[in-house]
Amino acid sequence: MEEVKIRNLEQREEIIITSEDVKKHPLVIATIEKSDKILGILGYTEHGLRHTSLVSNIAYNIMRRLGRDEKRSQLAAIAGVMHDMGNVVNRYYHAQTAALMAQNILMDLGMPYDDILDIIGAIGNHDEKDGFPISDICAALILADKSDVHSSRVRNPDSVKFDIHDRVNYAAKSSFLRVDDEKKTISLEIKIDTKISSPMEYFEIFLSRMVVCRRAAEFLGMRFELSINGHRLL
Ligand SMILES: [Fe+2]
Ligand SMILES: [Fe+2]
Repeated sequence: MEEVKIRNLEQREEIIITSEDVKKHPLVIATIEKSDKILGILGYTEHGLRHTSLVSNIAYNIMRRLGRDEKRSQLAAIAGVMHDMGNVVNRYYHAQTAALMAQNILMDLGMPYDDILDIIGAIGNHDEKDGFPISDICAALILADKSDVHSSRVRNPDSVKFDIHDRVNYAAKSSFLRVDDEKKTISLEIKIDTKISSPMEYFEIFLSRMVVCRRAAEFLGMRFELSINGHRLL
């Protein structure tokens, strides 16, 4: 019995799982699609395959820019793919639920235990309500997640008139997260159509997000900056 366990552990250490492998897992795809459907019913912005792929790519790029190796950057990319899966169960505690769901799937894929634990700790701490940057992977995930503000996330343009979240997202024509390893800054650069929403409205609803972005950047030894339409606000 003991021998079997040891062999299993050795095999796990040889396997390298990438975000592309995770993205192809049928349960991952089905869960993200259903989560997004449910969030649509609840009136939230898009949280589907577009959002999760983008967050995965941005988290990976942050890690690479900071000089992390391919392997560790892939762990952040995988956390990005899986971070919002918990919405299929409930919006509340979706980060923690997603972490446990990810654990099952990554076990199924044969990922080494230590990598799984790094990923689920990052996922479980990604939400601004109760999450804290507990690792570089988690900090990269938080920054990537919070920087996805874009008009394409609004499901119903008619709601822009009365819903501030939709209005701010709808007004955002582009957002870019710039990592400058020399200046030690991570800057979120957003272009807003001020005819739709004002930078003030952006602040009103994104203040808590900006606080976690600042915390995440500080965890990485960087300073967080925010600029809207070329004006530096933070
Ligand atoms: Fe989330
Ligand atoms: Fe997200």
